[in-house]
Amino acid sequence: MIVCSCNVLSDRDVRESLSARADRPSVGAVFRNMGCEAKCGRCVRSIVAIVDQHAAARLDECGGTGDCDSCRADGLAA
Ligand code: FES
Repeated sequence: MIVCSCNVLSDRDVRESLSARADRPSVGAVFRNMGCEAKCGRCVRSIVAIVDQHAAARLDECGGTGDCDSCRADGLAA
């Protein structure tokens, strides 16, 4: 499904751009990572939701113990 019509980005494109990241990037960082930038901004909520889903999935994988790169990036490490 296209989530950003200005840049013709699908949810799959966004998820793939996040797959190698251990942090929770900003929307601007997501756009930069895909070589484009926000234009009208209508897609921001959708992209934030995808970033949140990605972060939650990573937290499920590690259990939130603070031992992985994702936890350290979110400041959960002890
Ligand atoms: S829909 Fe993404 S910047 Fe316009």
